Amino acid sequence: MNFPTTRLRRLRGNATIRKMISETDVKVDDLIMPYFVLPGENVKNPIHSMPGNYQRSIDLLVEEVKELVSLGVKSILLFGIPEQKDQTGEVAAHDDAIIPKAIRALKKEVEEVYIVADVCNCEYTTHGHCGTIVDKDVENDSTIETLAAQAIAFAKAGVDMVAPSDMMDGRVGRMRKAMDEAGYYKVPIMSYSAKYASAFYGPFREAAESAPQFGDRSTHQMNPENSDIALREADQDINEGADIVMVKPALSYLDIIRRIKDTFNIPIAAYHVSGEFSMVKAAAEKGWIDEERLVREILTSIKRAGADIIITYFAKDFARMVKK
Ligand code: PBG
Repeated sequence: MNFPTTRLRRLRGNATIRKMISETDVKVDDLIMPYFVLPGENVKNPIHSMPGNYQRSIDLLVEEVKELVSLGVKSILLFGIPEQKDQTGEVAAHDDAIIPKAIRALKKEVEEVYIVADVCNCEYTTHGHCGTIVDKDVENDSTIETLAAQAIAFAKAGVDMVAPSDMMDGRVGRMRKAMDEAGYYKVPIMSYSAKYASAFYGPFREAAESAPQFGDRSTHQMNPENSDIALREADQDINEGADIVMVKPALSYLDIIRRIKDTFNIPIAAYHVSGEFSMVKAAAEKGWIDEERLVREILTSIKRAGADIIITYFAKDFARMVKK
């Protein structure tokens, strides 16, 4: 039956009926807030390209995360900046490395926090690449060994979940095996499965001090022109033992989220990355957009596309917005 019998505007008449039939609801429980941690005490360095975000020493991170959890955001994603970098990233994989230390402090001081740790080498290598360099390229098979060692060090410190972001082949399987053998079979893996070689990571590389010193990441991160390969990446990670698959960035890749959602029966995370965050902040600073409405709309669109979990630098702001 068509117009005038059917009038689609009838169910948009007021806020109550609009809310009653809404399909998508972003909850604070769905969000993960990323943080950058570095050595020292009482350090809080602003990240200029990401207003409101900082590199923090462990003591100040603990205070910050207490506040975050009190606002209802229980889950964080940690990135570490080490005192000294090395050629392979092995500096990240010791009991006294920055992330294991931060995990232990947070677990001791903050009740209820759920800690996800990013597993990659780019923050830890002198050259800023995600692994061991052989012939000017990141060598896959030696790199997955360093990543597995990192995952074990984080698990040993008490991490709740690990999130490999390197895009090496076979890293999920290698990490699963290593963690299982070491007795950490309960620690889930959230794999950055469909991670694209993206200009949206620009501000993050300032934050994590992880810009590659030569070349780029396009021999391992995915080509933005492609979509089919995302399904193979997700399939491979699921077969190797990933518990959650991630799509990254989020907004320019909503089609990928939806394709993975329609193909696999597994929770999906989407990473609303630094560049996506900073664009909103920059436009808001200029007074060109309504930041709060835009944040709600962006997070809603990512959920509507099929994401169960959203990693976003807006997590804390969003929690404040819904409390108001
Ligand atoms: C790699 C990593 C990156 C991001 C998360 N993990 C950067 C990269 O691949 O260069 C980007 C996150 C963001 O832009 O917010 N460890």
